[in-house]
Amino acid sequence: MGKSRLILDCDPGQDDAVNLLLAFAAKDRFDILGITTVAGNAPLALTQRNARLIADLAGVADIPIHAGCDRPMARDLITAAHVHGSTGLDGVDLWEPRTPLAAQHGVHFLVDALRAAPDASVTLVPTGPLTNIAMALALAPDIASKIAHIVLMGGAMREGGNITPSAEFNFYVDPHAAERVLQCGRPITVFGLDVTHQLLCTPERLARIAAIGGPLARAVHDWLGFFNRFDSAKYGSPGAPLHDPCTMAYLLAPQLFAVKSCAIRIETVSPLTLGHSAVDFWSVTGAPANANWAYGVDAEGFFDLLLHHLERF
Ligand code: BDR
Ligand code: CA
Repeated sequence: MGKSRLILDCDPGQDDAVNLLLAFAAKDRFDILGITTVAGNAPLALTQRNARLIADLAGVADIPIHAGCDRPMARDLITAAHVHGSTGLDGVDLWEPRTPLAAQHGVHFLVDALRAAPDASVTLVPTGPLTNIAMALALAPDIASKIAHIVLMGGAMREGGNITPSAEFNFYVDPHAAERVLQCGRPITVFGLDVTHQLLCTPERLARIAAIGGPLARAVHDWLGFFNRFDSAKYGSPGAPLHDPCTMAYLLAPQLFAVKSCAIRIETVSPLTLGHSAVDFWSVTGAPANANWAYGVDAEGFFDLLLHHLERF
């Protein structure tokens, strides 16, 4: 079987970083056409820089990294320095990245890369606000047919919100983009807080990562240790939820997750519930399903998979 083509769209972020490393570790399975970065956890100038730092760390030199949109489609940008630190990647002493930034805007890269691909052949893996993907679909609606699958992190149903009472951060930052992408008519699988809050970076799991040894495992350990401090206090849990790596873990081992086909809409109007993901889990509206909603995960299997891939570096 040939490799699946991927484009990773992200706003690193410690958990985005772990997701990129999972993808790099699985280059035998995936052909990564490029990485696009977006404003979210931190401003764009930092998220593009952080993606390049992660490529440095992994010794990956052959994947272009593009900077995309520096703000949401219709709202002012909010960031999450309170969670991820002022660099977006606090926890490790950062350096000047060696990996260059590609010249082309991330949205134009998405359009060109998808147009050049066969029908239904590219899987998009967004782990930040969906601005770049929505803007590419708005600019070039013909690219939708090239998308095989969109596997994304965003939203919350049973778990409630993490940035407002009802909204998850990625969908809240750019709700208009989230709604646009969810209505694009292509296969979509959505990993929201209902699943990611089952994946806690406990001290035991961090110790397993540290025990791998070497600079990359040490960086992952230190990033997740930093990430833990805010969420552990917020939730009173023994570690922070590991959100974004659900996406690559699903592509590597879908049997770890329980998903259900549902109609999902994103609130774009109400100030009270902006960015809320209305998941029709019990089909009460009769609306046709537009995405798979993830609601369960084998947490031990997930961490085993993550460890196994980090050991490959
Ligand atoms: C999402 O928001 C960011 O803080 C994380 O990187 C993740 O993508 C979780 O709500
Ligand atoms: Ca993210």
